Amino acid sequence: MARTQSGPGTNRRAFLRNVGLTSGAGTMFATMGALGLAPTAQAAQREQPFRALGASDFTLTGRGAAKVVVIGGGIAGLTTAYELGKAGYDCTVLEARDRTGGRNFTVRGGDTTTDLYGNTQTARFAAGHYMNAGPARIPQWMVTLDYCRELGVPIEAFTNVNADAYIYNESAGMTKPMRYRTAKADVYGYVSELLAKATDKGALDKELTASDQEQLVEFLQDWGELGDKLTYEGGERRGYSAVPAAAGTPGVMLGDIPAASEVFASGVGRYFSFEFGFDQAMLMFQPVGGMDQIPKALTRAIGARRVRTGAAVSKITDTGSGVLVTYTQGGRTKVVDADYCVAALPPNILAKVPHNLGSDVQGALKAITPSSAAKIGLEYRSRWWELDHRIYGGITETDQDVTHIWHPSYGFHGERGVVIGYYNYDDDAESYAKLSLKGREERAVAAGVKIFGEKYRTELASSFSHHWRQTPHFEAAWHDTPGGPDDVRYKPLNEPTGRVYFAGDWLSYTDAWQHGAFTSARKAVTAVHARVLAS
Ligand code: PHE
Repeated sequence: MARTQSGPGTNRRAFLRNVGLTSGAGTMFATMGALGLAPTAQAAQREQPFRALGASDFTLTGRGAAKVVVIGGGIAGLTTAYELGKAGYDCTVLEARDRTGGRNFTVRGGDTTTDLYGNTQTARFAAGHYMNAGPARIPQWMVTLDYCRELGVPIEAFTNVNADAYIYNESAGMTKPMRYRTAKADVYGYVSELLAKATDKGALDKELTASDQEQLVEFLQDWGELGDKLTYEGGERRGYSAVPAAAGTPGVMLGDIPAASEVFASGVGRYFSFEFGFDQAMLMFQPVGGMDQIPKALTRAIGARRVRTGAAVSKITDTGSGVLVTYTQGGRTKVVDADYCVAALPPNILAKVPHNLGSDVQGALKAITPSSAAKIGLEYRSRWWELDHRIYGGITETDQDVTHIWHPSYGFHGERGVVIGYYNYDDDAESYAKLSLKGREERAVAAGVKIFGEKYRTELASSFSHHWRQTPHFEAAWHDTPGGPDDVRYKPLNEPTGRVYFAGDWLSYTDAWQHGAFTSARKAVTAVHARVLAS
């Protein structure tokens, strides 16, 4: 339950937009974990271990492997074919698009997309530059990293939080951006001061013993960099206007320390708890050269001949003794006849495919609703954020509708670079989607200029925007699974009675993460294999 709340599922909007305003869900989860109320990832994994299949599974039993048709070549579908393939299953993956990976989509120069509004765009990014339009960051605890290791996909650090990135809350009346480090020094400083003073005045006498209070105040003095009188007076943590250097150059600390009321009114602390989240805490990682190195490696491991691209499924029929999957490829209608099927399409797309799996399956698919998210990649001729602002990766946060501005975590000190000019959700993503391609770029650039100045416009070389809700074959960035994936209404998907199994991040406690797709696929593979061995 705690996991559902910290993910983008039930409480997505509240979490994504207001984390830090409310008591952070991640903090709550961590607290519950500490109290022994929530399982840790390790404990959860211990409860449901995945045993990778192997060739001996059938050679030892003298049985033959079955034929499995996998619908959808995203992470869940590819993982299904990859894991089953290890035990000799004969898998065929049907993928509607011309590439595998699903929402794991890395955009490079030359890539072309057409959205549901009919906007066609071709990325013009220079060689070696890319944007991860879908997944872009991997926490250390997620199984995604195990697949990177197993498949030989090299990884590098992804900077999710950077003390030198900016915070800019326009609606709070900020007239210029503030560095994360400055905001943290001020917020932690004043929170510490107030709590220390309240303690000093006896406000916590009922809660804490005298010695506990002493320990608390000692902690607050250090955490908030308080002076002897328990007051916050700024300090080097805020940063410098001229940095310390050689003898004779002690540096000039930032002046104009705002009053406590100004700090709280500016809302600069509204997003601090983001980095406490179980999903979002540093360190995080990304594959070197783009997130799609993962599906590329999976596709290679499965064997290209088993993966049919440009193959859109038009009908699923469970015959009782097998599964017939009808699809069109190159204008021709074809059928795959298999023993079992794993359907790994997004639920909103799967619900549109005619099938005979029953109204309970259809009802479950329909109960899961699609959500919006979008990104625009802004390619710049120079890396002015490194040169002028000394920002090497990380995220600038703003309450403008661009929401998050990502500084690239690769290509440091290179000539050019791709900044994510917006990563937004829901209504913000929808309102950008309705604009022309040029209009999206202009609005994103106008928001960035307010934070970074004119170079945000003048250094721009090209842009590419991607809106998942408006992308054919997906029509969603991720999904809302009301009640969580174990709600009784999804039983027909989690424990199917026929020969069609289901997999996807949307059937996991980590929707909107590849980890959800990987683990859901492992669950489907385990179920199919148990059934085959028992049959
Ligand atoms: N995994 C996505 C991301 O990191 C979506 C997501 C955001 C999921 C926030 C959970 C919390 O951006």
